[in-house]
Amino acid sequence: MNLNNHSNNRIVSGMRPTGHLHLGHYHGVLKNWIELQHSYECYFFVADWHALTTHYEAPHGIEQNVWDMLVDWLAAGVSPHAATLFIQSRVPEHAELHLLLSMLTPLGWLERVPTYKDQQEKLREKDLATYGFLGYPLLQSADVLIYRAGGVPVGEDQVAHIEITREIARRFNHLYGREPDFEEKAAAAVKKMGKKNAKLFMSLRRKYLEQGDQEALEVAQALLESQQNISVGDRKRLFGYLEGSGKIILPEPQAMLTRAAKMPGLDGQKMSKSYENTIALRDDPDTVTRKIRTMPTDPARVRRTDPGEPEVCPVWQFHLVYSDEHVRQWVQEGCRSAGIGCLDCKQPVIDAVLRELAPIQERAAEYEQDPDLVRSIAAEGSEQARAAARDTLEEVRKAMGLAYK
Ligand code: TRP
Ligand code: SF4
Repeated sequence: MNLNNHSNNRIVSGMRPTGHLHLGHYHGVLKNWIELQHSYECYFFVADWHALTTHYEAPHGIEQNVWDMLVDWLAAGVSPHAATLFIQSRVPEHAELHLLLSMLTPLGWLERVPTYKDQQEKLREKDLATYGFLGYPLLQSADVLIYRAGGVPVGEDQVAHIEITREIARRFNHLYGREPDFEEKAAAAVKKMGKKNAKLFMSLRRKYLEQGDQEALEVAQALLESQQNISVGDRKRLFGYLEGSGKIILPEPQAMLTRAAKMPGLDGQKMSKSYENTIALRDDPDTVTRKIRTMPTDPARVRRTDPGEPEVCPVWQFHLVYSDEHVRQWVQEGCRSAGIGCLDCKQPVIDAVLRELAPIQERAAEYEQDPDLVRSIAAEGSEQARAAARDTLEEVRKAMGLAYK
């Protein structure tokens, strides 16, 4: 994915601390992160404040959930050498940005986010008519904007939150990106590109602003990106100037949609803790074996001699994730002709899941035995994240008149 070139190749994503992760998280999120961490500058964090928005009455389990989840990330292969791993509340800059953004956030924007009413309905037993819960998407916006990230890998359910993040960034830049002498400063910065490039830049800008020529915009952005003798401040000014806005202080991030998790639960529904249909990454081999052996199958196969239909069987969904063409063929034929029994059919799935989990569990055991290591990874990651967050915050404070020198 080609991210906005002026927002570099940083990505940010967070996960609420739900404790032990399962195969749904692994196939739906973690494998994606593990791939991304080698091509992008990644910030992955545990959203413990977000957990508090819904669990403020009983926060005691959160800490253990944070450590359990971090161990699972590490065990799955999210690497502290490739990505910055941290805990949200250890980077208080998120909170300051959240506060500052709250000043310019219209209440209606938050009330209109679909998850606001949905979750209140769904979690009826909890009183979610709180200030913190209303601010959930704004806190998420701060999580992303504090790193000036270009992309946010998330599932479909989070798209509305990225959308409001973009709107907040736009509003912020609109309000604070126009210094009093913006036009003069931008014109002076253009000159620094040299005569030829300056002329080209201005004509591309005109093409974009007057005719909406998207390609001209992209060429101009690339041109700007390649300039060596303009300062960071001028560069931001010019990216904004190019698009007819002020200085872009907080770039708008893009949602990087993770393809829908293809990992079904043991009962064929989506794998989720609340459906009690999960295989946890740290389930021991006996538990995994038992869970798969007791999975429901095509209800038409009452007796071993009854033929079945893979399409209506949750086990078949597992074969789609784990088995090659050869095994799938064997299942299709064996099931429809009653040539194989359901336990026969499940064995290759059991073997494949155990094979997948073995190295993960081996690493998890190492981290479990060395909790200090996990703590120091989180502490170092949090410090690293703070350094990046402080840079943004400094600019934000300046833009909002809070720089006090
Ligand atoms: N709301 C996200 C979820 O429930 C978690 C989250 C918090 C997040 N802050 C974020 C995701 C920032 C991406 C970026 O899954
Ligand atoms: Fe399902 Fe396999 Fe049994 Fe067919 S043989 S019903 S696919 S478990």
